[in-house]
Amino acid sequence: MVSRLARAKINLTLHVTGQRRDGYHLLDSLVCFAGVGDQITAQSADHLSLSVEGPLASGVPTDERNLVWKAAELFGHDSGAHISLTKNLPNAAGIGGGSADAAASLLALAELWDVPLPENVLDLGADVPVCLAPMALRMHGIGEKLSLVPALPPLWAVLVNPGVALETPPVFNALTVKENPEMECVPDLQSAAEFAGWCALQRNDLQAPAIGLVPVIQDVLNALAPSLLARMSGSGATCFGLCASAEDAEILANFIRANHPDWWVVATTLS
Ligand code: C5P
Repeated sequence: MVSRLARAKINLTLHVTGQRRDGYHLLDSLVCFAGVGDQITAQSADHLSLSVEGPLASGVPTDERNLVWKAAELFGHDSGAHISLTKNLPNAAGIGGGSADAAASLLALAELWDVPLPENVLDLGADVPVCLAPMALRMHGIGEKLSLVPALPPLWAVLVNPGVALETPPVFNALTVKENPEMECVPDLQSAAEFAGWCALQRNDLQAPAIGLVPVIQDVLNALAPSLLARMSGSGATCFGLCASAEDAEILANFIRANHPDWWVVATTLS
């Protein structure tokens, strides 16, 4: 049996710098990963099967529509496995849920079956390559070009999702200007406050179009305003607030939970 944590992917910045002829957008994004995630467990079996449980399992398919299933099929051989997915992360939420699950499944199955990873992992989704190496990375191209960045300072965050699923394509479609300036070079900073100051000078170009589609995202950002920096991740609707300590993150998370008991609120580390 092999288990993997499919950590939530956070886009600390997300600059959209162009659009390819096939419609995909060119990105320049600083990505990091939270300490929370979905759990993938794979064990040997005669056939492929998938079960989904956990607090956010409702509505998640257990068949070939699930990226976990597609990840297993990408190996292109008929070895079996039973995969169990515990959904702790919201779906269609801008934190990589499905891509993180797919990447964790690829790693778990490669170990279980003792085979190399398939080559065409990008076919599963633009965020899958970065989720295979869950660490701070700069993402270019449509998501397939990854480069190392200086280690992040010790960093905590409050993640908040207002419970509204937001699919990615409509957010990209709502972005009117596709060619925007690149992100500045990621500096080597030692404190969370300095790092948040640098992040504040960068952008998430999808934030404004996402708020246009789902205005409650602005309420989430307002609730996270006491943090060092409040911003949306990916195409939303999850937003993060950067914090300098676990205690600061926990206090802010508790305050937001008390005011918005129906929102998904998590205090966690980022790295
Ligand atoms: O690759 P993934 O399935 O996650 O992407 C979902 C959708 O988001 C794509 O079909 C595309 O409409 C949009 N997308 C994009 N440019 C990217 C990544 C995703 O336009 N770099």
